[in-house]
Amino acid sequence: MKKTSFGSKLTLWYREHQRDLPWRNTHDPYLIWLSEIILQQTQVKQGLPYFLKFKNTLPTIQDFYAASEAQILKLWEGLGYYRRALNAIKCIQYITTHCQGKFPSTYTELIKIPGIGDYTASAIASFAFNKPEIVIDGNVKRVITRHALIASPIHLTTTYKAIRTALTERFTPKAHYDFNQGIMELGALICTPKNPHCSLCPVSTDCQARVQNLIADLPVKAPKSSKKNRYFHFFLDQREDSIRLIQRQDPSDIWYQMYSLPHFSTFDPKEHHRFLKQQNKQPLYTNTHLLSHQKLYIYLWQNTPKKYHRDTSLFAYNKVHEMSFPKPIRSILSHCSIL
Ligand code: ADE
Repeated sequence: MKKTSFGSKLTLWYREHQRDLPWRNTHDPYLIWLSEIILQQTQVKQGLPYFLKFKNTLPTIQDFYAASEAQILKLWEGLGYYRRALNAIKCIQYITTHCQGKFPSTYTELIKIPGIGDYTASAIASFAFNKPEIVIDGNVKRVITRHALIASPIHLTTTYKAIRTALTERFTPKAHYDFNQGIMELGALICTPKNPHCSLCPVSTDCQARVQNLIADLPVKAPKSSKKNRYFHFFLDQREDSIRLIQRQDPSDIWYQMYSLPHFSTFDPKEHHRFLKQQNKQPLYTNTHLLSHQKLYIYLWQNTPKKYHRDTSLFAYNKVHEMSFPKPIRSILSHCSIL
């Protein structure tokens, strides 16, 4: 494997084919950080409008620090994985109080910040501070496991190390920015999970998986942890000018700090069926919703039994528009013409 050939082919390809994305026209560490936390677990097409919204509303780290948690959650609404937004708040609080309000410029300092992991620390060091760090995200893993034919399951630490070694062999530190952006771009546009466009790939001639006809088998997925079923029964208590809502207070909750309708939830199908039987009527609405580790079965019932009033309050309809809701609650509120 000639080191220069992979890097030079990749960077040449990137310079010609890159998409014009707003975080590529800046070296501002705050904007780079913002783009990277939004793009974790999120495709560019979905993340781009959120990046622009954050950039326009909170253009500097000081603006982000001054914003309320409710405002950040509202801006994040619809992106999912809300813990990312709460981690982002912790990260900016730390930088403001421990780093004089400026992102540090090295991987070693960046990785100390709460909410910043290996990927984000490397990305900020390379893209904002011109440090030749290697970045490894899902796209990079896919490209490298194919190109170097790394056939062990993707979730293993040993696989991660093999990827890092293979990537280091191919890395061109002098062109680290274009190399890192380029390999992610290649993963996003050409070396896609399904039906990759190998005929357009600049490094296909020495791609080991292609030579051995194993592209479709790589990367080897982690064994599937099946999604847990969870049954949600929401209660609609609508008044003339207000509605009963609850702010979720359990820090381990998937929707911590978001607003919701009062509800009962269980993972136990027997308990769910007992509840259904007790209702003795048809729900107003049903739906399902997929999360990364749970499948939600959603039911909506008229009125809120007294025992579910705890921690709830009545909110005027005009306030509801400013509050942040998880997607399935937003769907219910739209269904009921409240949003
Ligand atoms: N996904 C994660 N980071 C990215 C970046 N900087 N450009 C495009 N896609 C990305």
